[in-house]
Amino acid sequence: MAQQTKTIPQSTGTAPHSGSNSETASKSLLQVRDLRTFFPIRAGVLQRVVAHVKAVNGVSFEVFEGETLGLVGESGCGKTTIGRTILRLQQATDGKVFFDGEDIFAASPTRMKQLRKDMQIVFQDPYSSLDPRMPVGESIAEGLLVHGTHSGKARNDLVQETLQKVGLNPYHARRYPHEFSGGQRQRIGIARALILRPRFIVADEPVSALDVSIQSQVLNLLRDLQHEFGLTYLFIAHNLSVVEHISDRVGVMYLGKMVELAPRREFFSNPLHPYSQALMSAIPIPDPRIKRDRIILTGDVPSPINPPPGCHFHPRCPIATDICREVDPEFREVSPGHLVACHLA
Ligand SMILES: Nc1ncnc2c1ncn2[C@@H]1O[C@H](COP(=O)(O)OP(=O)(O)OP(=O)(O)O)[C@@H](O)[C@H]1O
Ligand code: SF4
Ligand SMILES: [Mg+2]
Repeated sequence: MAQQTKTIPQSTGTAPHSGSNSETASKSLLQVRDLRTFFPIRAGVLQRVVAHVKAVNGVSFEVFEGETLGLVGESGCGKTTIGRTILRLQQATDGKVFFDGEDIFAASPTRMKQLRKDMQIVFQDPYSSLDPRMPVGESIAEGLLVHGTHSGKARNDLVQETLQKVGLNPYHARRYPHEFSGGQRQRIGIARALILRPRFIVADEPVSALDVSIQSQVLNLLRDLQHEFGLTYLFIAHNLSVVEHISDRVGVMYLGKMVELAPRREFFSNPLHPYSQALMSAIPIPDPRIKRDRIILTGDVPSPINPPPGCHFHPRCPIATDICREVDPEFREVSPGHLVACHLA
């Protein structure tokens, strides 16, 4: 079948390489090439398309097997849309996504169903994705039913085993979502994704809705499961501190584009993009003797419907020059595995 042919895509030349980061596996599992996802805006009696929200506007990156790529950026910059488009929960406008060398946008519905076993998502708010009238054991088993992989006792056994893997008890299977705390509900969300034993998980702000004390427990759980099951994560977050805790590499998004991508240590010690530097300056330092100058960005985030010409960040950039207002900077590699889209970096 044509859809199952494995085509190894040509590198776009923008891919990071893992050699600089010993924590990062070397095999590329996911390749995203010049991805665009636009949402039409309709108006008038005839509901004509009058403009587009350019939620994802030409993004390329790779995720290596066994690593966690953290994706950060402020609200509305397109993080969730990237995750959903990669999983084909949202249709792409343009670009390609390869999973283990396979062009997933070319996959037939049957093939896509098979691929979904390998590619799962954990949502920010598991409560809204759990049916309040269904015992959580049934919600967790849903994927097994859809894929017809286990039935009867084998299915129940796997649900109970998975509940234990995420730190819950087998008897929790009979309870309903409202009987759990936020942290426990997120564990249920993780169990739903894990039960199919996927290779790749998009974790879309999985700890943002949790108390800080619970956040680190869920992050540690995700890390333990990664080691046990060899998982690869695209981990989406607002918060750089969370990303620092879990990621091998960090990607920063601004207005539908990736503006910086680097191994974690390199990124946190040497952020090159002015937007990354501003995000970094907002991380609180626990030691009151150390002072850091906070970079306050002026101006509102421009609209993704009509992004500014040149560098999208120029209206808020403290060091913008003339070229920034006219020429969109290339996303280029400035040191091994460290890419940045800035004329002055
Ligand atoms: N279904 C949709 N229809 C129209 N516009 C959408 C849709 N989904 C997202 N958008 C728009 O696309 C842009 C990116 O949204 P997205 O949810 O991907 O951002 P995000 O980075 O995940 O934000 P947050 O941090 O708030 O979750 C936003 O301007 C949003 O309003
Ligand atoms: S290209 Fe110019 S405007 Fe954009 S981040 Fe770099 S210096 Fe700032
Ligand atoms: Mg989001």
